[in-house]
Amino acid sequence: MTSIASPQRPVALVSGGSRGIGRAICLALADAGYAISYCHHASGDAGLETLAQLRAAGIPSLALQCNVADAGACERFFAETIEHLGQVDVLVNNAGITRDAPLATMRPDAWAAVIDTNLTGTFHLSRSAAFHFMKRRTGVIINVASIAGVYGNATQTNYSASKAGMIGFTRALAKEVAPYGVRVNAVAPGFIESDMTAGLSDSVASAALARVPLRRFGKPEEVAALVRFLASADAAYVTGQVFQIDGGLVL
Ligand code: NAI
Repeated sequence: MTSIASPQRPVALVSGGSRGIGRAICLALADAGYAISYCHHASGDAGLETLAQLRAAGIPSLALQCNVADAGACERFFAETIEHLGQVDVLVNNAGITRDAPLATMRPDAWAAVIDTNLTGTFHLSRSAAFHFMKRRTGVIINVASIAGVYGNATQTNYSASKAGMIGFTRALAKEVAPYGVRVNAVAPGFIESDMTAGLSDSVASAALARVPLRRFGKPEEVAALVRFLASADAAYVTGQVFQIDGGLVL
């Protein structure tokens, strides 16, 4: 763990910030003036490249190893962030995995891993954040869902259920915490260039591309720009919403 405290900056806590969309979110929020605390799952230096980029730009930042499926690890991640950076102003629940299979052959561990990481991980970190935010009467939660959670994807019953769960969670929590000045929104990306989509076979990737009216996959930075807007005061009257960012895929 490495940290530099800075009481002047607001603080964003991002799950799964070591690569892909999560890294782009860390960098975009850093650019918007936030100190950054992120977690990654794997041990070792693999999760620390984002930290190196943040530190090189002089951003107060913290990187911790944390499995979001583990309630205790999430509590420690949140507490250590407050210990080192003083507070949390924005939580982005970005960590997510896929374990695709047709339902008839889906192993129970593939179901559990996806629900535990994507949905229960969101619950764990949001629970810590809700307590902290309600006490401070301010705060923003942004959940990275997926269009799979809105429309469903064949061979992704686990993933689609987890992301649909995140959307229901977003709406319910938004109503619950709005009286405390806390906002909760979700973004629902379509196909975005990342390690997750790099795993698609050529035939699946080209079939996917053919369905996107804008004729390209999105960039992590484009999702991050939407998250940056939702975190900002410009979105002060926006809560309980789900924003699709998919190149027109599900018009
Ligand atoms: P990625 O696979 O490149 O990165 C996932 C991140 O989550 C990594 O930092 C990884 O360390 C972290 N992570 C995974 N399991 C974790 C765990 N148990 N505890 C803590 N961290 C964990 O994925 P990508 O594409 O950047 O996805 C980020 C989010 O965006 C995910 O929630 C994903 O479901 C969602 N998304 C991605 C889309 C895409 O096309 N790439 C489309 C729609 C949604």
